[in-house]
Amino acid sequence: MSSFSVITKSIKKVYKTEGNSDTIALKGVDLQIEKGDMVAIMGPSGSGKSTLLHILGGIDIPTSGEVLIEGTDIYKLEDKELSRFRNENIGFVFQFHYLLSEFTALENVAIPLQIKGDKDAIKKAADILEKLGLGHRLNHKPPTLSGGEQQRVAIARAIVNNPKILIADEPTGNLDSENAKNVINLIKEISEKNLMTVIIATHDIEIAKYCRYIYYLKDGIIVNVEKN
Ligand SMILES: Nc1ncnc2c1ncn2[C@@H]1O[C@H](COP(=O)(O)OP(=O)(O)OP(=O)(O)O)[C@@H](O)[C@H]1O
Ligand SMILES: [Mg+2]
Repeated sequence: MSSFSVITKSIKKVYKTEGNSDTIALKGVDLQIEKGDMVAIMGPSGSGKSTLLHILGGIDIPTSGEVLIEGTDIYKLEDKELSRFRNENIGFVFQFHYLLSEFTALENVAIPLQIKGDKDAIKKAADILEKLGLGHRLNHKPPTLSGGEQQRVAIARAIVNNPKILIADEPTGNLDSENAKNVINLIKEISEKNLMTVIIATHDIEIAKYCRYIYYLKDGIIVNVEKN
């Protein structure tokens, strides 16, 4: 299975807020992430991690700079093309999970597959939830799940499609260390098997150590890169 490289050129992001002075969230970020690589983004709260991930994931337009995913300058695509590109290639785990509260855990994970016409959607969704330790919660709706359980449903939803790139914003932030290890091991296994490129924001150095590179972000710029 092919996978995708991610290159950014001088990404800047300025948030305009009415009545207040502008917030410069990213001040020029250059990344070169190879196909199939696993990369962690660390840095203090407010340093720009979520902003950067949203921009890498085609969700939030940078104020300036380019995002090249396997050579495609994604913000030069038309809106529809960008949505399609995102749906086909990118799995995104949001810091705040955005599950559909009217649907069960199983349905939340199966729906993206069903939209694509996958006849095995339910089985695949159940399998991945089982692997994440949620076999006993398939028919629970998100409001009846714990924060960590909801987080694992969101992870299952992002990886069930076998995306070429997984972008995960603090995917283990609500998990105990055992579940966190289980999640990162599963992500690593899928990354190695399918050459899935993985970009994870985390505050947990133990999680970051699973990645080949750790980028340190501070006040909107990369201040250090470590190789594991
Ligand atoms: N929609 C927005 N409008 C205005 N400012 C924003 C917006 N989103 C983020 N910011 C600001 O941009 C900066 C970076 O925020 P971001 O969410 O990227 O940080 P983070 O590194 O993910 O933090 P955390 O570790 O707390 O999740 C912060 O100063 C934040 O207040
Ligand atoms: Mg964040």
